Amino acid sequence: MTKRSYQPKDFYFRKAKDEGLRARSAFKIEEIARRFAIFKKGQTVVDLGAAPGGFLQIILNEVGPTGHVTGVDLAAIRPLGRANCVTAVLDVLGADFHAQLEALHPGPVDVVVSDLAPKTTGVKDVDEARSLRLVDVALEVAKRRGRPNGHFIAKLFMGSGFEALRDELKVLFGEVKVVRPEATRGASMEIYLVGLRKRA
Ligand SMILES: C[S@@+](CC[C@H](N)C(=O)[O-])C[C@H]1O[C@@H](n2cnc3c(N)ncnc32)[C@H](O)[C@@H]1O
Repeated sequence: MTKRSYQPKDFYFRKAKDEGLRARSAFKIEEIARRFAIFKKGQTVVDLGAAPGGFLQIILNEVGPTGHVTGVDLAAIRPLGRANCVTAVLDVLGADFHAQLEALHPGPVDVVVSDLAPKTTGVKDVDEARSLRLVDVALEVAKRRGRPNGHFIAKLFMGSGFEALRDELKVLFGEVKVVRPEATRGASMEIYLVGLRKRA
């Protein structure tokens, strides 16, 4: 049998299709949410790097109709048909990003989620540095807008900036977890940093 590290139609791909989910990545946020009891009904959530909307589908179910979810991405997100979900095409690295997000989603945020991922170049250091830059933006959203006791979840390509970032999270949150969800592809270098209970 040919060895392949990337299997486009693997178990989670098929499961996502069967369950009407837009992306196999939906199972990652589902696992993280379950393990750490992240979401509650009525919460306000910002999802960065949200296209095509797999995470959004799970989060919307978790927060229910009284919650409010905003998803942004460089790519347009096909409407999810939910009145309590706002999506927009935004570049999180743009100069006006924080003001644009504030206009779209004013007020405090209970959970900041980021599945942002740069286009990979194949050069490990470059890809890691770009991933780190995206996590920094997500963390800045949590710093500026995150509610005390709120949570933070962000994907990171594991690399040399990991420890410093984890230490920064430890200052900002009561507890920090590093997770590699089951649905992560075998060869992937990605992990999720989870900050629980933002300090006041
Ligand atoms: C792994 S995908 C997200 C999948 C999504 N969580 C889902 O479940 O459908 C990563 C996303 O990050 C987005 N992205 C990368 N750089 C970005 C940037 N500067 N601003 C906004 N989105 C960006 C990409 O367009 C891509 O859609």
